[in-house]
Amino acid sequence: MSKYFENSLSLYVHWPYCESKCPYCDFNSHVNETIDVDNWIKSYKNQLYAMKEELINKDVRHKNLSSIFFGGGTPSLMPTRIAENIIDISSNIYGFDENIEITLEANPTSYDDKKFFKFKQIGINRLSIGVQSLNDEYLKFLGRLHNIRDVEITLKAASNIFDNISVDLIYAFHGQKLMDWTKELETFLNSNKLQHISLYQLTIEEGTKFFKDYQNGLIKIIDDDLAAEFYDASNKILNGFNFTRYEVSNYAKNNFKCKHNLNYWNSENWIGIGPGAYGRLWSSNRNKNRIEYQNYKNPKTWLSKNLFGSKYEKITKLNDHVSDIDTLTMGLRLSDGVEITKLRNKSIIDNNSLEKLKRKNLITLVNDRLKVNKRHMIKLNSIINFLISP
Ligand SMILES: C[S@@+](CC[C@H](N)C(=O)[O-])C[C@H]1O[C@@H](n2cnc3c(N)ncnc32)[C@H](O)[C@@H]1O
Ligand code: SF4
Repeated sequence: MSKYFENSLSLYVHWPYCESKCPYCDFNSHVNETIDVDNWIKSYKNQLYAMKEELINKDVRHKNLSSIFFGGGTPSLMPTRIAENIIDISSNIYGFDENIEITLEANPTSYDDKKFFKFKQIGINRLSIGVQSLNDEYLKFLGRLHNIRDVEITLKAASNIFDNISVDLIYAFHGQKLMDWTKELETFLNSNKLQHISLYQLTIEEGTKFFKDYQNGLIKIIDDDLAAEFYDASNKILNGFNFTRYEVSNYAKNNFKCKHNLNYWNSENWIGIGPGAYGRLWSSNRNKNRIEYQNYKNPKTWLSKNLFGSKYEKITKLNDHVSDIDTLTMGLRLSDGVEITKLRNKSIIDNNSLEKLKRKNLITLVNDRLKVNKRHMIKLNSIINFLISP
């Protein structure tokens, strides 16, 4: 029986609004406008029903939903009635795994005890809080509306409601001192009980304000050697606090790896609803193709296209080559690596390159599992480029 015969199934829900636009962010996020709650519920609902039909038509064999992720934008700004409807409908039509993980991304500025308690009541059981920086100067630099005091209050209040809290942090800015960062990180971990951390090095994304500033020489990026020092020092500290790095930028305490993101990295099935969200499914029809569903990005366009039915902007059958590159690049991000039996065509791996990487101890291949050596994770992108056949 094929490995893909019964993949996991996840649901990603995109909420595109934020209180303000951060200068580094190229996510599909827009400053809040008035919305018609009933229309948004209708459109999400139409997409959920349409995707259920699609799963049947494309003969997608899947398990019950193992995770839902409300991402954004700032989904903690979403009226709870919308999230509640999405959770109830998906439970009815897809079925829930008994240990389903339901995550909500939240910003410290939008924290409100009553609202978060309601989120918990409707089924959210994991909070991912955008702390972003551990120092007021850098929070300002990142254009955030909150300060460290807001972070403390939010984390304290949220931990009274949720047992599974993750925080997002951005680090390794030009000018940031390694000593300052490591101290801040240690103090933060000492004062807060967290289950999961996502730690991202600042990247300058095209189309953002930071990109213009970078082109005008107002912002610089740090060199690779210093970035590697930041990465190694952070890994050591997190290890000391019992966080295991299970993906390039993600660290979890025992049993708190993010199930939802693991589904992406393991190239499983997921449905994507909401503006700009995309989903990927393995169809079990004859040749077993991977199909990608891309939503309209603009919130108003998305709403008008889904209010009286459901329409994706683009539906693409991914060919074996594209699909294999994705399986390999996503899978190698994981500390556990990727099972190469998942590849449709193993020849995308260049054997000479593989042997060289093995000899240099950058990569291992044991029992069909290909893994990047943990000390070399920082060089992941160049290792992957070298590994893939030209
Ligand atoms: C969809 S965004 C955030 C959710 C939430 N609205 C927030 O800002 O707190 C997901 C995460 O990506 C990270 N991120 C976004 N842009 C980034 C960039 N240019 N460099 C590094 N990390 C970035 C941030 O840590 C952010 O929390
Ligand atoms: S980083 Fe978060 S809050 Fe800032 S614009 Fe992007 S999605 Fe919105």
